[in-house]
Amino acid sequence: MNKLTLAACVAALLGLLATNAGAQSASDEIAKYRAMLADGNPAELVEGQGEAMWTTKRGPNNVSLERCDFGKGPGVLKGAYAELPRYFKDTDQVMDFESRLLHCMVTLQGFQRSELVRQPYSAQGERATDLEALTAYGVAESRGYKIKVPQTHPKEKAAYARGQKAFYYRGGPFDFNCASCHGADGKRIRLQDLPNLQNPAQTQKAFATWPAYRVSQGAVRTMQWRMNDCFRQQRFPDLQYGSLTSVDLITFLGVMAQGGTMDAPALKR
Ligand code: HEC
Repeated sequence: MNKLTLAACVAALLGLLATNAGAQSASDEIAKYRAMLADGNPAELVEGQGEAMWTTKRGPNNVSLERCDFGKGPGVLKGAYAELPRYFKDTDQVMDFESRLLHCMVTLQGFQRSELVRQPYSAQGERATDLEALTAYGVAESRGYKIKVPQTHPKEKAAYARGQKAFYYRGGPFDFNCASCHGADGKRIRLQDLPNLQNPAQTQKAFATWPAYRVSQGAVRTMQWRMNDCFRQQRFPDLQYGSLTSVDLITFLGVMAQGGTMDAPALKR
């Protein structure tokens, strides 16, 4: 079977799944689970770990992260996540929360970047990695804040433009781009609802609810993880943690999600 036929088959299959209105959505199950837990989200445990880690002197330099600047001044976490990715003068780069965190762990605490990115995500059922715990804590400090990803610096505009290009870039064995799965309303794959990420309201909801506790994996997953996992869904090569393309895609989604209200870590399938 050639590539195009294969792509057509997959597209037809996706279409079939999409129109399978009789199937019960996994989101209904999640809604039930959420109700069962009432206000409790297991992510809170991970947030707590992150909070303790934030103020602890760690790494070869034995300092805490309390001087880390996420764009609102050293140590200011409140609302910071809701305005990331943004341009940072000290690195002359646009950075998302996770790449900025990585930067602080390296420059302030003296950790090795290569060590940190070797295993940024915990294995199923394992204790959260430092990056996951700190990110869970960081994002929770933006709960209730409006998403305001800046587009003033030329490099912020460039990141958005590259992110948009990456979103629509087709490739891999099925010739997929992000829009193949996230370009229409009411699409489903394996009973999971796929948000239409060309629609601002749906993108607001998606952006606002990551990082999230994934019930199916028993772990908090971050936005970097989400991007990497969708690269995998797309049959693209591994997306490097904190890479330019990951930040570009998050910038693109963040700008699209402008005006939404942060509500993470959320609870997901
Ligand atoms: C082959 C299909 C496929 C492709 C291609 C794909 N995704 Fe996804 N995406 C998924 C699935 C499946 C989920 C998870 C849905 C769930 O677990 O409920 C998802 C979830 C997401 C979410 C989280 C939505 C939410 O509300 O929680 C975002 C954001 C996202 N994808 C972005 C992207 C981006 C950006 C790309 C392109 C780099 C992309 N996806 C490519 C299948 C895909």
